[in-house]
Amino acid sequence: MRNFLLGLLLGIIFPPAILASLSLMGRLPINAREEPANWEKKLLQAAVARSVAHQAPVLKNPYPVTDGNLLAGLKEFHDDCDGCHGTGEKKSIWGTSDFYPRVPQFGFDPPRLPDWQIYWVLKNGIRYSGMGGNDPGISEEHAWKLAMFLSRLDSLPPAVEAEWRRRPK
Ligand code: HEC
Repeated sequence: MRNFLLGLLLGIIFPPAILASLSLMGRLPINAREEPANWEKKLLQAAVARSVAHQAPVLKNPYPVTDGNLLAGLKEFHDDCDGCHGTGEKKSIWGTSDFYPRVPQFGFDPPRLPDWQIYWVLKNGIRYSGMGGNDPGISEEHAWKLAMFLSRLDSLPPAVEAEWRRRPK
């Protein structure tokens, strides 16, 4: 029993101690251009999705879903986000090769989150990734219209879908 407890204690102490030593010895890989492993991507995506679902308060979008509001969200996306997340017709070279984790390309891999969760992500950002927070960098109106647009990428009305898939001027 004593040996078991000793083993358990060492098992708990050793892994973080080894990780801390490797970090302080400068041995952790920190190069962002390397391709992330599949298991790492899946684990991180699941962790981010669950944390956002757990931590974002359920808020109601104060703006009605209209073509005009969706187009305003699309404009905001082109102004602030497409350099990393790409457009409806083209991936961002920077976003797909120079970030660790890689930046999801919303024209090909939509966020599929409800608008209040997208609102929370765009205000607060995601730690240890290239996704920064935007509070108070973006007005409430712009944030909600942008979240409305991104939460509906799979079901945009035809006029907005056409604008999204068109090459931006
Ligand atoms: C400098 C690059 C960069 C910019 C600019 C950027 N993002 Fe991101 N974004 C990222 C990265 C990297 C991730 C992936 C983070 C992760 O998975 O840990 C991400 C993830 C997200 C996610 C979560 C997606 C998902 O499927 O879980 C949302 C939503 C998002 N960004 C919205 C935005 C919005 C809205 C803007 C513009 C206001 C924006 N981002 C601007 C880099 C960026």
